[in-house]
Amino acid sequence: MTHNLSSKTDARGVVVSECKPSSLEDYERALYQFQSYFGDPLETLAATVKNDPEFVMGHVFNASAMLMMTERQYIPAIRHSIESAESLSHKSNDREKELILAARDCLEGRWDRACVAWDRVLARYPRDAMAIQCAHLMDFFRGDAVNLRDRVGRVIQHWHESVPGYSYILGMQAFGFEECNQYDKAEEIANKALEIEPRDGWSVHALAHVMEMQGRYEEGKDLLLSREQDWAPDNGFAPHNWWHLALFHIEHEDFPSAVRLYDEKVIPEDSDLTTRMLDATALLWRLHLQGVDVGDRWNRIADMWARKAPVENGYYAFNDLHAVISFLGAGRTAEARTVLTAVEAAAETNLESASRMAREVGIPACSAFLAFAEERYKDAVELLLPIRTIAHRFGGSHAQRDILTQTLIESAICADNTGLASNLISERSVHKPFSPLTRRFNAKIKAHKRVTH
Ligand SMILES: [Fe+2]
Repeated sequence: MTHNLSSKTDARGVVVSECKPSSLEDYERALYQFQSYFGDPLETLAATVKNDPEFVMGHVFNASAMLMMTERQYIPAIRHSIESAESLSHKSNDREKELILAARDCLEGRWDRACVAWDRVLARYPRDAMAIQCAHLMDFFRGDAVNLRDRVGRVIQHWHESVPGYSYILGMQAFGFEECNQYDKAEEIANKALEIEPRDGWSVHALAHVMEMQGRYEEGKDLLLSREQDWAPDNGFAPHNWWHLALFHIEHEDFPSAVRLYDEKVIPEDSDLTTRMLDATALLWRLHLQGVDVGDRWNRIADMWARKAPVENGYYAFNDLHAVISFLGAGRTAEARTVLTAVEAAAETNLESASRMAREVGIPACSAFLAFAEERYKDAVELLLPIRTIAHRFGGSHAQRDILTQTLIESAICADNTGLASNLISERSVHKPFSPLTRRFNAKIKAHKRVTH
């Protein structure tokens, strides 16, 4: 590989083509914001490229960070950033050219190929923190648990405590281990990351996932509350960690505390951020499955999705399912059907990743929730049962996709298929032996049997 002799390097020694010294400082600030969720990298990068329009990595990072929002509304700005970077190819180094290709692959719906491109970069520049994190997030959006763990594993030999941002790399690896169900390893690595950087919200999050998957709700609550001053104030990721705390409350059948967190922390005011809307919707649905009346909160969250629907419907199936759920929760079936129609259309496009996700998981999942809302419980079971073990293909975490299993259990009970419901609870009990929520599901099955037999 050839390097421009006038090249500089970033704080991790990764080569960057010629730019203003202040641009490199801005890049580091944006990277810290991207890794830590303290501050807004998009705001920083927009100002950076305005100040230095010839800063290749500014455009590349800007495009890549916007791609991680998984929203169609950013596409024009992403395209503009990629084209700006491409127009500077005469001064871009090989790494930057490859990163531009990765961003273009992503933009054009080839998410798998983008991840391969990032891996090519990492083979030569294993300390490219932006590439690691973009690939990690895209592994998450593609539900690729093995790469969530092993992509970091492939570069970790080049990282150690003296390299800036090491804790964030460990945090990603911890989350990867958790998604591969290797909970002890995940916990060990997340704790190591937090010893280095106690304010690393992603590592706290990895620990929360471990505790969620093992039904350790008391420990989970203690973890989040005892460290609140580290991960919560002024942090963009905090609402998701609050969501995890609400899940621990639900696991403990403490529904009022979950509702209070919804109102005060998860989505205290209207938002147009998909990540917030996903968590809010999923939380309401879990409460709904437990018979909690959440009142007009459904209409409020459905209104948020409705505002985005004309642009976002059919862009990413994981988001679409949550839009459907919000509309169904609010009793707005026609709008839910409009989303399903968009998912069906997405399945027919040539956008490789989006169309595959829509086809394999999006359509059956959205159809199942529609069936559930229309009390066609047998249909819901028929639709959910085959996809619950492949649902990772449309992204998200195990904890997030648990909404499918919980809905399947409820559907099976309502469809008088208590054998299936009981088996699903048995499966759940293996992983969460001390869960009051699991016992609650069990009690429901028994009560249903008493009524129907
Ligand atoms: Fe999470």
